[in-house]
Amino acid sequence: MASAVKFTLNKEKITYTGNPAVRLLDALRDDFVLTGTKCGCKEGECGACAVIIDGVLVNSCLVAMGSLDGSEVMTIEGYAQTKRFSVVEKAYKEVSAVQCGFCIPGMVLACESLLSVNPHPTDAQIRVAISGNICRCTGYNAIVEAVHIAAREGEGLW
Ligand code: FES
Ligand code: FES
Repeated sequence: MASAVKFTLNKEKITYTGNPAVRLLDALRDDFVLTGTKCGCKEGECGACAVIIDGVLVNSCLVAMGSLDGSEVMTIEGYAQTKRFSVVEKAYKEVSAVQCGFCIPGMVLACESLLSVNPHPTDAQIRVAISGNICRCTGYNAIVEAVHIAAREGEGLW
């Protein structure tokens, strides 16, 4: 029998006793009903499944549950409880950076990941930061603009 995996999910302590080979993406959606994390390629290519683990942006389709012991996982649902999220959400709305919305949880977490280490990014730095996140709708310019606005409006939060 696999040993229990203890980790934190959106600040809640979790003891996971299921199959350690299950992808974090699948566990989030199926076991924890955190469906804000989207399933795109399941190959680490699209960023739709991005979450933040121990402060780092990670594609959850490439993470096995058994590797999470001692980790802190934040999904878009956890991030949505923060002040930073409110700023990013407002910025995305302001420039209509959300169309179908499928990529947005991953995009927003990529934005958080960037601003947490670089609160005043250049255009090029934003494009690099979201380069692992595919958006099929916006053409990216609105998303880049939204990150600039969030950085400006959220001055001091990051
Ligand atoms: S579903 Fe994980 S990167 Fe595409
Ligand atoms: S808004 Fe549709 S995929 Fe990005």
